[in-house]
Amino acid sequence: MLRKATRLEKIPPYLFMELRNKINKAKAAGVDVISLAIGDPVEPTPGPIIEELCRAAHDPANHRYPTDEEKGMAALRREVCRWYAGRYAAQVNPETECLILIGSKEGGHHFALAMVNPGDTVLVTDPGYPGYRPSIWLAGAEPYPVPMTAENGFLPDLRKIPADVARKAKAFYLNYPNNPTGAVATPEFLAQLVAFAREHSIAICYDNPYIDIVFDGARPLSILSIAGAKDVAVELNSFSKPFNMCGWRLGMAMGNPTAIAAMAQVKSNTDSGVFNAVQYAGIAALKLCAPEVEEMLRVYGRRRRLVADTLNSIGWKCAPPKGTFYLWLPTPDGRNSADFAAQLFERAHIVVAPGSAYGKFGEGYIRLSLTITDDRLEQAMDRLRKTFG
Ligand code: MLT
Repeated sequence: MLRKATRLEKIPPYLFMELRNKINKAKAAGVDVISLAIGDPVEPTPGPIIEELCRAAHDPANHRYPTDEEKGMAALRREVCRWYAGRYAAQVNPETECLILIGSKEGGHHFALAMVNPGDTVLVTDPGYPGYRPSIWLAGAEPYPVPMTAENGFLPDLRKIPADVARKAKAFYLNYPNNPTGAVATPEFLAQLVAFAREHSIAICYDNPYIDIVFDGARPLSILSIAGAKDVAVELNSFSKPFNMCGWRLGMAMGNPTAIAAMAQVKSNTDSGVFNAVQYAGIAALKLCAPEVEEMLRVYGRRRRLVADTLNSIGWKCAPPKGTFYLWLPTPDGRNSADFAAQLFERAHIVVAPGSAYGKFGEGYIRLSLTITDDRLEQAMDRLRKTFG
């Protein structure tokens, strides 16, 4: 009989695959499910990006392997670096400090394979994006949870990381604007993080796909704009969220040249890169679609207010998030997050992500995503009013 590899024993089924199965089963049984679970924008990809994809897809030169350049198409890397310099005041060298990815999720995985050894300790925020711990385990390393709590504004308290753990840690996974909590980082926090990582030679995997989704005067912030960051950090980013391109699978890693070269080595031995037509479409996104990013912000700004106002009106106290398109809500009366998510599903046919799926410190919360149409979100709010109001 076949047996799967032991390295998979610690790895749970992927949260959003499990939720998708649950949603599909309910839909097949005729239930009108509203999913506020996965963060997957429902608005279409902007027209200029689709037009460029179609143009490039008709060119047979793009039907061959996209492997001419190990780090991804040079023209796209140059455009990414221009975008980073102009928008976030972060200087990135397109030749040595930028790698094109099949979405930022695989970047987190390749980072672990490139930068940590079996048996190493890797710091990861708790709560934390569900992709991080499996990447660390698959590299044979062990995640060490660094708590993020409401009292600290969901920023990790670096001084509370025990000295022996800081000494032996090889890497640190974190992301701001934060998925799942919606917290944003300040330049001061990032400067402390960079100093901490430099002191202990820790490689930072700074996952930043929500960089542009910030509200109430907060400014988009790249760790690469912090002095000294490139000595220790790689920033991951993605076209998925700002340009409604989740399905296209296009992202990038930027930062420390040793880490970028190591990730490119892992990648070129794993996959054959991103379809050239998609890379050309990425160039069009960066060159032509900054106004669409502003429109996207207006959409989520409106929806976050709608949800926060509705919940506050039924006595479920919450503030709209400072960043991302998620609301991280304490469950009423501190109820168990999985039980409460199950109750929402049974009573209102609404699917949310239970906080416990993000780590021990996610217990007592649920995450709600704003990536559905305004109409469906209104319907979801009606159901919440009727069920809990
Ligand atoms: C999320 O909903 O947190 C993600 O964007 C979806 C994923 O990458 O799994």
